[in-house]
Amino acid sequence: MKNRFIIIASLFLSTSSLADETQKSTPESSVVSIWNKHCKKCHGSDGYPTKIGKRLGIDSNIFDYPKNQKSDLTQLFTVINEGSGKMPGFSKKLSTDDIKTVVEFIEYSRLIFKIKDREKQIDAVLEKIGEDYNNLPECNSVTN
Ligand code: HEC
Repeated sequence: MKNRFIIIASLFLSTSSLADETQKSTPESSVVSIWNKHCKKCHGSDGYPTKIGKRLGIDSNIFDYPKNQKSDLTQLFTVINEGSGKMPGFSKKLSTDDIKTVVEFIEYSRLIFKIKDREKQIDAVLEKIGEDYNNLPECNSVTN
């Protein structure tokens, strides 16, 4: 019961602060509202395709950079502006500035995705080094 209250309270806090931010129209909050309104239906809130998105042929997380082909900013802009395959274009629904903001947001999120992926690789290497170290023979005979 207590937990439920905390969850509801924090949901309320997060949505009300989101509303505050939107009023101030900070870039981050407006990109979140653009994303939620226009992109989430197919690309999900965390970048993983939704059921609808999968049905239309999206097979990977849009933020998982190496798996997505559109890499440069102009290409990203063109896809969002004009559409591609089964994705509709947004030139009539979003301003050029809004589309640029979304492009930046995708670039930024891809960078974070990449960094997290690198972190995982580094952790794996560190673990391997730890194992190798533990398997070193004892050096009882070292003298000076
Ligand atoms: C109706 C579903 C739908 C909506 C809504 C949608 N997309 Fe897409 N999106 C797709 C599909 C399907 C593809 C794959 C297109 C292809 O195969 O060429 C795609 C591909 C993309 C790609 C190219 C991915 C890559 O790197 O290859 C980008 C970028 C993209 N979408 C951004 C957006 C943004 C930003 C929005 C919101 C403004 C959005 N999409 C809204 C369905 C959608």
